[in-house]
Amino acid sequence: MHHLVETQQFDRASLRKLFDLATILETKRDDSLHGKILASLFFEPSTRTRFSFESAMYRLGGHVITAENAAEASSATKGETLEDTIRVMNHYADVIVIRSPEAGAAERAAAISEVPVINAGDGAGQHPTQALLDLYTIEREIGHIDGVHVAIIGDLRYGRAARSLAYLLSKYNDIKLTLVSSPELAMGADIKAHLDEHGVKYTETESLKDTMPEADVIYQTRVQKERFPSKEEYERFKGGYIIDRTMADSMKEGGIIIHPLPRVGEIMPEVDDSPHAVYFKQVGYGLIVRMAILSTLMNPQRNS
Ligand code: NCD
Repeated sequence: MHHLVETQQFDRASLRKLFDLATILETKRDDSLHGKILASLFFEPSTRTRFSFESAMYRLGGHVITAENAAEASSATKGETLEDTIRVMNHYADVIVIRSPEAGAAERAAAISEVPVINAGDGAGQHPTQALLDLYTIEREIGHIDGVHVAIIGDLRYGRAARSLAYLLSKYNDIKLTLVSSPELAMGADIKAHLDEHGVKYTETESLKDTMPEADVIYQTRVQKERFPSKEEYERFKGGYIIDRTMADSMKEGGIIIHPLPRVGEIMPEVDDSPHAVYFKQVGYGLIVRMAILSTLMNPQRNS
């Protein structure tokens, strides 16, 4: 694997290798990216994804150059094409992490880049590294992935993290998937076709209350304000699904609540000290998964 653009690039064997490496990197010092440079090119806002890639790079001994507000602070504002920006960055960096509001942007960058390109979210397309850390969190917290019942809640239409996770789950056996959303924000037909093709049983419902006690994993997501055609449209759906403490308490023992973050009201703060709340611990898992991703793409002996 040279670039990381979408979750379909993985199979179970490569996921196993990646997750085992993440677990090793949790405790073992590794400076194998000493002298290498990561460029983060973010055309959309981010806190976790950019900082966690940058922190991961530093922890592996590397360096970072960054455009955190590339839409305004890079030559894109002068009208430079993405392709030209990537050609130029190829002289400065050994790996490029890109986030864009446009679905397909990472693929375009990867098509012309000599150095590895990592998709850190392309519009309503995919967010593969988020889904990888979500899946790793499930494995670490539940103990296994096969047979798990995952409920994905919220904005399944525009939520790229939700879309990427659905792709990844289809690689496992006996997965039960419950898709909780209003019909207008339902999961796209492309993902549903993929689930059907891979024999993943899924149900669609509007009821979060009925789903909470059933699922092993509650994957709550934010309504993606920036993708709606108008503020009024967004306001109609905002606040549609809110997890409060009573709902969290209705979960089965060992069940977990995860969230890609940021949350903007979908999980009440009173849930934070529930034994089911794993969303902040998930951030720590994200760091070691991103270390494992960088290490795999940039160390040829690990990338076979
Ligand atoms: C997600 C994203 O950007 O898609 N955030 C993240 O990377 N942690 C989810 C979101 O913004 O809702």
